Amino acid sequence: MKEQIKIAIIGLGYVGLPLARLFATTYSVVGFDIDKDRIAALKKGIDTTLEIENELLKEVLVAENSTNKGLYCTSNRKDIEDCNHYIITVPTPVDKNNKPNLTPLIKSSETVGNVLKKGAIVIYESTVYPGATEEVCIPILERISGLSFNTDFFVGYSPERINPGDKDHTVEKILKVTSGSTPEIAHRVNELYASVITAGTHLAPSIKVAEAAKVIENSQRDINIAFVNELAKIFNLLDIDTKAVLEAAATKWNFLPFKPGLVGGHCIGVDPYYLAQKAQEVGYHPEIILAGRRMNDSMGHYVASEVIKLFIKKDKEIKNAKILVLGITFKENCPDVRNTKVVDVIQNLEEYGTTITVFDPWADPNEVKNEYNIVTLKNMPQEKFDGIVLAVSHKEFVEISFDKYLHKNGVIYDVKGILKCEVQGKL
Ligand SMILES: NC(=O)c1ccc[n+]([C@@H]2O[C@H](COP(=O)([O-])OP(=O)(O)OC[C@H]3O[C@@H](n4cnc5c(N)ncnc54)[C@H](O)[C@@H]3O)[C@@H](O)[C@H]2O)c1
Repeated sequence: MKEQIKIAIIGLGYVGLPLARLFATTYSVVGFDIDKDRIAALKKGIDTTLEIENELLKEVLVAENSTNKGLYCTSNRKDIEDCNHYIITVPTPVDKNNKPNLTPLIKSSETVGNVLKKGAIVIYESTVYPGATEEVCIPILERISGLSFNTDFFVGYSPERINPGDKDHTVEKILKVTSGSTPEIAHRVNELYASVITAGTHLAPSIKVAEAAKVIENSQRDINIAFVNELAKIFNLLDIDTKAVLEAAATKWNFLPFKPGLVGGHCIGVDPYYLAQKAQEVGYHPEIILAGRRMNDSMGHYVASEVIKLFIKKDKEIKNAKILVLGITFKENCPDVRNTKVVDVIQNLEEYGTTITVFDPWADPNEVKNEYNIVTLKNMPQEKFDGIVLAVSHKEFVEISFDKYLHKNGVIYDVKGILKCEVQGKL
């Protein structure tokens, strides 16, 4: 049966590409993305998200679209016409008012609706609120294709759980939740994933359950981090070392080891808004979920105000102070700058008249410039600063000898608490 399956993966980003590569080791896979630059780079075996090593990618790439196993990358909709499984891995961001922006999900459903044939299965992986697949996506597939849901075509939902930059928990090593629109389709979707995911699968009883499971995984993380961020604010006022408190508390078997920090990126800081939106639609105003969001969204401002306080304590002038910010990606050892909260730290510091220099060996300077209008350096600037803020714990930063880059009486603020040298402030 395996050789008859032909899979189209729609959206080759942080989630879609690792999945496409994995499936391509066993199946014929067409990777489709509207970003032509992304397709051109992938065709050369280059993954700019750094999730898949170039050699590993090249091993599965094929030059021809055929039914043989391998990955064929394309921006041409025609190339996905003869697929019988469609897996949608497009972004699900929020708009400037933190409302779910379903445009990529709607557009990609239209793309698939245009090529859908009888018997096909469409599986969504993008993180959504419970009900989105059935209420938003399926009606589009039906309308555009003219086919009937659960008669002519079928749907599944299998949320992605990958962690960008994490080379230990790669897609095949993470247990995958699966679901389908009928009991038989659910089993087929489950078997498809089970054939490549070595960690195994968990078949959820419905699409809504699978959607809800994913969105609460990230909401739970967000709320837990918000709690330790609140603790950091309290312990800083009490002049108690938060890290030491957390280490002591973590010696109890059921204490959860979360750390304070800036919560950015495409998932943890975004997904709770999807759940909140759905809750509000049905008349429930979420308290804890949104409180967690407010706390975590306030941390950039908090870090900046702590840095300013340190300057004042040291009788250092803030206006025109030169501050070096280390790291601008939303997390360590990864080039992803989406929704990074380091930008909040920078903007808040700039409001006090400081001059900010940003060094990040991972981020793409063009992307940062386009997205945030901030200049970033790829190499450590060879000059001295009045203050240094370690914002992201990239592995390269631990090795830096800060004395070389700091004026006498300078300030070091270590957001992530990773530095071994003397620091004046940390979360
Ligand atoms: N990045 C993560 O850590 C992560 C983890 C688990 C789940 N998710 C979820 O997975 C989904 C995808 O996230 P991502 O991080 O891979 O996003 P991404 O931005 O890295 O990649 C999405 C890709 O989809 C493409 N795309 C956008 N609209 C398209 C369309 N209409 N047709 C075809 N291609 C289109 C984009 O060009 C891009 O290459 C989101 O719902 C996200 O919440 C992400």
